[in-house]
Amino acid sequence: MAGGKRYYITTPIYYVNDNPHIGHAYTSLACDVLARFKRLDGYEVKFLTGTDEHGQKVEKSARAAGMEPRAFTDKVSRNFHELAKFMNFSFDDFIRTTEERHRHACQGLWRRLMEREQIYLGTYAGWYAVRDEAFYGESELIDGPGGGKIAPSGAEVEWLEEPSYFFRLSAWQEPLLRFFADHPDFILPASRRNEVISFVKGGLHDLSVSRASFQWGIPVPGDADHIIYVWLDALTNYITAIGFPDTGSDEYAAFWPADLHMVGKDILRFHAVYWPAFLMAADLQPPKRVFAHGWWTNEGEKISKSLGNVIDPYHLVDKYGLDQVRYFLLREVPFGNDGDFSHPAMVNRLNGELANDFGNLAQRVLSMIAKNCGGAVPPPGTLAGDDETLLAEVHGLLEKTRKNMDVQAFHEVLATIWAVIRACNVYTDRQAPWKLKKEDPERMATVLYVLAEAIRNLAILTLPFMPRSMDRMLDQLAVARDRRAFAFLGPGHALVPVTALPKPEGVFPRLVVEGQGP
Ligand code: MSP
Repeated sequence: MAGGKRYYITTPIYYVNDNPHIGHAYTSLACDVLARFKRLDGYEVKFLTGTDEHGQKVEKSARAAGMEPRAFTDKVSRNFHELAKFMNFSFDDFIRTTEERHRHACQGLWRRLMEREQIYLGTYAGWYAVRDEAFYGESELIDGPGGGKIAPSGAEVEWLEEPSYFFRLSAWQEPLLRFFADHPDFILPASRRNEVISFVKGGLHDLSVSRASFQWGIPVPGDADHIIYVWLDALTNYITAIGFPDTGSDEYAAFWPADLHMVGKDILRFHAVYWPAFLMAADLQPPKRVFAHGWWTNEGEKISKSLGNVIDPYHLVDKYGLDQVRYFLLREVPFGNDGDFSHPAMVNRLNGELANDFGNLAQRVLSMIAKNCGGAVPPPGTLAGDDETLLAEVHGLLEKTRKNMDVQAFHEVLATIWAVIRACNVYTDRQAPWKLKKEDPERMATVLYVLAEAIRNLAILTLPFMPRSMDRMLDQLAVARDRRAFAFLGPGHALVPVTALPKPEGVFPRLVVEGQGP
């Protein structure tokens, strides 16, 4: 793999204990938008997603479903794969931890840790939460509603006493703190970074990394009584997918360290503490960044199966449209914060920002061109100050967008683009091209040209968020498929006058709110 800019981005691999819901789709969506953005910006991208299939939680769910773990995980993993396709996620690889390549990588990492004396055999006696697949210290437990103790996440805990291998996590406290200090952007957002630092400063205990009381996992090399702890198994997926343990391969060299592990805030500690410690202990580089986003609630309530308020992405898309849902999820909440889902908020954004601001702009401009310019790109005359000001705003967007994307500020990206879309609407109203038809047809052509060119740029920039709708918009401007990338933004690749355009059609229909009529 020669030269060039590369970008490696990963989603968490999802537990196959249950069907996917909007929370899973959200994390992967954020990754998809980044992956698409980087591809359009000229990077060679590897976008990895997949399923986490071992461990007690999955084994229990398989039994509860009356199935063998293997058949059960095949079935549920397929559901995650189908959802990713349905959401138009552009992943390059879908990893399953039950694959042979992964067993090989995981045992390879274990051996490296053994060779470096980072793992030793002992006995674990302590609390374990199957739901979180996590060990908890007595002092971490909180009072549960029934009077008993529960994990801080709300998960039930059970007392566990079994022989176990331990990872010398305690030895990595100082190196981790140094690593965080040297890489201030390793954990984003900053508030989460502070939480992790205080956790590490509080002291690290050696971590149990094998289980001996059940079978559903990857055997510890050389000791078939143990299976590898599901989190050590799962985290390894990020290097399995680039050919580990072959660290000399072109792919490994090209993509490791990963640019970004995107995760929910619930699993930050595993990614920002355990994972870099495992890697450093194995003489491998830690990833460049872990971003922990917030959680969605549903009309104010925590989303949970027992409350029966799980948001099904298929229903949502059916009701509002795929790109509309993609837009809403990344626009509604400052990325990193928790967010509350509500239908009125969705309708407001879709009608206000998609149908009115952007959809209407494109529809107005394209139908005026169809009606008044013979259905072809109008030839512009000399540009006036207002035209140049508007185009300068449009052309300035790429740099701003890159900066915001590089810190995963999706809401800022969209807010910035929409500010320019609104400026286009203000310009349209002020120039009133419909009035110019008789008075000054040449000026009308210039105004419509400036607007069409603005829309071309805006649609290319918005492609990562709403790929299908923006492709439809670009089809209507007759922009060739191979010119839909950031290298074609700006005046150097502007629309060519008198190019014939197809008949315009609306891209974002207005939603009719039940009970209010059209
Ligand atoms: N298998 C582990 C991850 C291993 S990665 C090496 C796991 N899986 S999970 O299926 O439980 O997925 C958790 C992730 O799903 C969260 O970190 C988050 O990314 C996403 N979400 C699940 N519910 C969510 C919400 N209600 N809101 C936002 N995201 C949520 O943990």
